[in-house]
Amino acid sequence: MKGFTTMRRRLLLVVLAPILFLGACTDERQDVWSPEGEFTEKIDGIQWGVFAAAYAVGLLVAVAFVFIVIRYRVRKRKGPDGEEEEVERPDPVQVHGNFRLEIAWTVIPAAILAAVALFSVPAIFAIRGAQASDDQDFSVTVFGQQWWWAYEYNLDDDPEPEIITANDLVIPAGHDIELALESRDVVHSFWVPALAGTLDVVPGRTHDLLIEAAEPGVYDSQCKEYCGLAHAYMRARVVALSDSEFATWLDQQQEGWQEPDDPEALAGRDVFVSRCAQCHVINGLQDADGNEVELDVDAMPLLSKHAPNLTHLMSRGVFASGLLPLYDEDGNLNRPDLEQWLRNPSSLVPQRPDNEQGMPDLGLTEGEIDQLVAFLQTLGEPPPGAGG
Ligand code: CUA
Repeated sequence: MKGFTTMRRRLLLVVLAPILFLGACTDERQDVWSPEGEFTEKIDGIQWGVFAAAYAVGLLVAVAFVFIVIRYRVRKRKGPDGEEEEVERPDPVQVHGNFRLEIAWTVIPAAILAAVALFSVPAIFAIRGAQASDDQDFSVTVFGQQWWWAYEYNLDDDPEPEIITANDLVIPAGHDIELALESRDVVHSFWVPALAGTLDVVPGRTHDLLIEAAEPGVYDSQCKEYCGLAHAYMRARVVALSDSEFATWLDQQQEGWQEPDDPEALAGRDVFVSRCAQCHVINGLQDADGNEVELDVDAMPLLSKHAPNLTHLMSRGVFASGLLPLYDEDGNLNRPDLEQWLRNPSSLVPQRPDNEQGMPDLGLTEGEIDQLVAFLQTLGEPPPGAGG
């Protein structure tokens, strides 16, 4: 009876496998069958063949398995004394040591793997070769940390980056972009299914990954290595702009903070300085006395010692680890989620209850939240089509 349950479970798997396989063929954010750039086009060209071969072999094994389970199952019948007894059956033909069979099941898999290698090895060399060629048009350092992505753009020769941003990785479309992947805490994995294969992000190492988006657009990303509590929420987006839009974006991102005129926003600045500036940087931010607000990195309780730089928050399309849209479909600020994020972040994304990591629950009053939202809205230019 126990054996039969196991058999039923395995049969269920055989039935479920094609359904799961088809389930992956959708237009969702983690769809690996919709390449949008030269590197994923190369990968896509191979994976159809590889999956077809793997599926054919898997199906063959499953059919053989089912056949053998049914053909050689234990049969019972009523004996002359009325008791149930097993039906005697001769052992099947034994093939142990059969030279021809052993050669066959060695040579056939080797041939299949050789055929796969024939296509995949040149593609691997082509992608790595493009990476080694130093022809990249642009390079961005990408930092993974629990549980969001930061990007640093160094536009000149000194070691200090000119632009530090988060969640939305902005690149020019139609160019090879080299990403230098680094981790500030544990192992993550950077993955934009439409633009590149996945690559682990490992503390103490720099891994290079080339991406290219053929057309301007927005491409979703998801951390692909389990990295703790909010791993599943560790999302991001790649925003590919035309050359002229990207040049404008670069200029805008290098501008520092401008003091707002609105009194509500100024009150929000004071809340920000006292409650948020321990972790979040706004370049050039000044307090009410005109003193520049400096980040005391050593005093921060965060393991990664970093929180997103908010100088141009409004230029991004998402916040909260890329999970929530900053604007609704009409281009208006997504005020309900932004307020809730300030009110109780762990109601949107799991956070450590001891506030040691991630966005802490600050116990802000509703008045402070309104002031903060008014202030945050003055940070940077909304992306095209938003902020109406
Ligand atoms: Cu970062 Cu999973």
